[in-house]
Amino acid sequence: ALRGVVALDGPSGTGKTTVARTLATRLNSGYLDTGSMYRIITLAVLRAGVDPADAVAVAALVDRVRIGVGTTPDRPSALLEGEDVGREIRLADVTAAVSAVSSVPRVREVLVAEQRRVIADVIADVGGIVVEGRDIGTVVAPDAELKVYLTASAEIRAARRSAQDSAAGREVTVAAARASVDRRDRLDSTRSTSPLRAAGDAVEVDTSDLSIDQVIVALSELASRRG
Ligand code: C5P
Repeated sequence: ALRGVVALDGPSGTGKTTVARTLATRLNSGYLDTGSMYRIITLAVLRAGVDPADAVAVAALVDRVRIGVGTTPDRPSALLEGEDVGREIRLADVTAAVSAVSSVPRVREVLVAEQRRVIADVIADVGGIVVEGRDIGTVVAPDAELKVYLTASAEIRAARRSAQDSAAGREVTVAAARASVDRRDRLDSTRSTSPLRAAGDAVEVDTSDLSIDQVIVALSELASRRG
């Protein structure tokens, strides 16, 4: 079983979520999807009719909403004021607005504090947790036992994103997925507060030519050596 934190960062379409959940299941650990927390806040912003680009209004809202995330890898739940919003936070309007919302410093302050609290709880409970996001190794858990940064070529990431969308019943062309993935990466890696980047001590894994299974085998080995 895993002891401590595995930090899994990287842009979208690298297989991060599948890898993180499978790894957590195998290691009998908890799992935290920090992206879902930014998505829940974004959904609250959209529902309230707040402009995602209005940083002052977004910052005011984040202090008022109550969100919840599950930490079991088989069925991670996402709650907004107690309502299950797991499906809604994956829809295109949330995806399009999430980078603007996640760039607001107050949003990051509130969510990073909440993430650290959840991580401490799960560690106290089951001993280990796999945490996925963009700034886990750099900001949320800089003392993680293992830091992994997943990458993949833009073509591969767009293809995976569009396959994922169509599996979920949302038809998106590869070209549209490519545009959406590129845009989100650009916004996420150029924002001033904790931009997407690999921690200096992260192991970088290029998943372009690897199957999910190969990535999981490689990471399980790394985790068993470090954890
Ligand atoms: O991983 P996912 O695609 O669900 O993340 C959605 C968005 O949340 C990212 O594009 C990014 O803007 C934001 N995010 C973040 N920091 C994290 C995780 C996600 O800014 N640790």
